[in-house]
Amino acid sequence: MALLLWLGLLLLASVQSSAVKNCHPGCRCEVESFGLFDSFSLTRVDCRGLGPSTTMPIPIPLDTAHLDLSSNSMGPLSDTMLSGPGYTTLVSLDLSSNHITKVSPNALSKLRYLETLDLSHNNLESLAPRCFSGLPLAEVDLSHNIFQEFDMDVFTTKVNGEPVTVDLSHNKLVSVTTTSHGRISHIQSLNLSSNRMLSVPMLAGLPLRYLNLDGNPITCIKEGAFAQLKDLVYLSISGLDELQEIEQQSFKGLQSLQVLDLSNNLKLKALSPAVFSGLDSLQELNLSGSGVVSLPNNMLTHLPSIKSITLGESINCWRTQKQGQFHRQLGQVQHNEVLNCNVDGIVL
Ligand SMILES: *[C@@H]1O[C@H](CO)[C@@H](O)[C@H](O)[C@H]1NC(C)=O
Ligand SMILES: *[C@@H]1O[C@H](CO)[C@@H](O)[C@H](O)[C@H]1NC(C)=O
Repeated sequence: MALLLWLGLLLLASVQSSAVKNCHPGCRCEVESFGLFDSFSLTRVDCRGLGPSTTMPIPIPLDTAHLDLSSNSMGPLSDTMLSGPGYTTLVSLDLSSNHITKVSPNALSKLRYLETLDLSHNNLESLAPRCFSGLPLAEVDLSHNIFQEFDMDVFTTKVNGEPVTVDLSHNKLVSVTTTSHGRISHIQSLNLSSNRMLSVPMLAGLPLRYLNLDGNPITCIKEGAFAQLKDLVYLSISGLDELQEIEQQSFKGLQSLQVLDLSNNLKLKALSPAVFSGLDSLQELNLSGSGVVSLPNNMLTHLPSIKSITLGESINCWRTQKQGQFHRQLGQVQHNEVLNCNVDGIVL
């Protein structure tokens, strides 16, 4: 019985590749079959770098799931460039490095099953408000474009959507807005690193779990800057060359936050304990490579869940409990919690 089961699993796991008829010249087409008796198959088509004389749409086999059209100098994306049999079944599409300056409002509308879209390394400055409407997108890469403003509304849907991951890193963003007009946004991961934002954007209404603001010219983080992000688990604010101040209560409302990366903020010199108030779930704090060299000694009272703090180049501190004395009035043993660091002289 066990042997049969094992054999079955082996068959399920085996992947077969075979060639495809009617593959466009210059493209590579592959069918991957898997499952018992090859019951599932996926067609993968690679048409990278075909040269400037290529006319779109390129005919692709029926049932294509993955299509790579990167590095083809496509220019502005028109309504017809991604149409035809084969396109309607796409699950992932790579349009990176194509000098795309515009996406016409219906250019993607036939891609009813599209989950992964790569538009990185193009020249996009704006998107039509409805250009992703009706697509079951789960992952969208818009990094390395030239957006200056971005309205997250483009990702809102009326239907029950899957969680969405959006990469907007390496743009020229000075502002990001969320004006969802009662519709629901499912963005759980948002990467805004290496942009031009001078302050933390208002992201109220997004169910974010991951947020990256690295490498923005933010000078000060204001009280309540993240107030509405109660689901956020991971926040990275690292490598901010201009960051000098984090106001008290800045992280208030981040009740689910587990990891806070404040590393490589050289101009950040001091932190008051009240900066950390509200971070009830915080387990890891990274201050390595920042200007902060010592920690306020009553800081632990604000961080009930902290497990590790990294400070300086290679100073790591862990929370430990010292058994204290029996407390008569409370009728229990009091625990004294301390941070122990791997360098002598820093005990908080
Ligand atoms: C966010 O973008 C930066 C820069 O492109 C990258 O280094 C980082 O890995 C990204 N984060 C995630 C979670 O993809
Ligand atoms: C802290 O940040 C530095 C610099 O970004 C990184 O190299 C290091 O791995 C981080 N440490 C932890 C414990 O996450």
